Amino acid sequence: MFFRTKLFPFLLLSSLGLAQSPLPSCRYDDIPSYYQELTDWSISLLDTLYKLGPSYQPNDLVKVTEAGFGSDKEVRHIILNDLTSLNNAAKTKGIYLEVQSAFRSYSYQEETFQYWVNQDGYDAALVSSARAGHSEHQLGTALDFKSAAGPAAWDLEDWAKTPEGAWMSEHAWEFGFVMSYPKGKQDITCYIYEPWHYRYIGKDKARALKDSGLTLREWLWQAQ
Ligand code: DAL
Ligand code: ZN
Repeated sequence: MFFRTKLFPFLLLSSLGLAQSPLPSCRYDDIPSYYQELTDWSISLLDTLYKLGPSYQPNDLVKVTEAGFGSDKEVRHIILNDLTSLNNAAKTKGIYLEVQSAFRSYSYQEETFQYWVNQDGYDAALVSSARAGHSEHQLGTALDFKSAAGPAAWDLEDWAKTPEGAWMSEHAWEFGFVMSYPKGKQDITCYIYEPWHYRYIGKDKARALKDSGLTLREWLWQAQ
């Protein structure tokens, strides 16, 4: 009881203090994300400052073939129902999506980041690929989509202008998925426009985020 009464005002104040502090500028740091439990998947803020540790690894990964995709990439089981609904709804409209990338372990993200450094150089990689621990892909709730019949979405000028990308940008939120790095928001999100990268935060939160008009990073910052 003593600890509860002593700690509660402190926790309340520190939480309020964070929520009221301005969103950090897009600098690079390695601060542990406030929410690092597997149950925190919908509120863990990951950006160029905040990160997960190397041991963060979901324990309920399933292949996206279970959601009707051809790819054998993996996501957390908790997103499977809504991912399946999204895929089925898209198909009924003649929209055929595929999953390019989904869960990435800390070590796999090290390789991914290095791949982009080798491709584009370090400075370009920093704004297009997360350093290990900083990627939403480590949560097992983020996916990179593509058109089933098309190339990797990042090889196109703007995937959101294809029927598949346009359908996702209009409807993904209805199934709990949000575009983490929208167009024209690089100063806020810290990453270039990625019309293919969606993170699942659940239907209620996705609707609230859409109604707020905020980017996911701003919205999660308020929730920290
Ligand atoms: N491309 C995004 C930022 C990632 O690497 O997670
Ligand atoms: Zn991605």
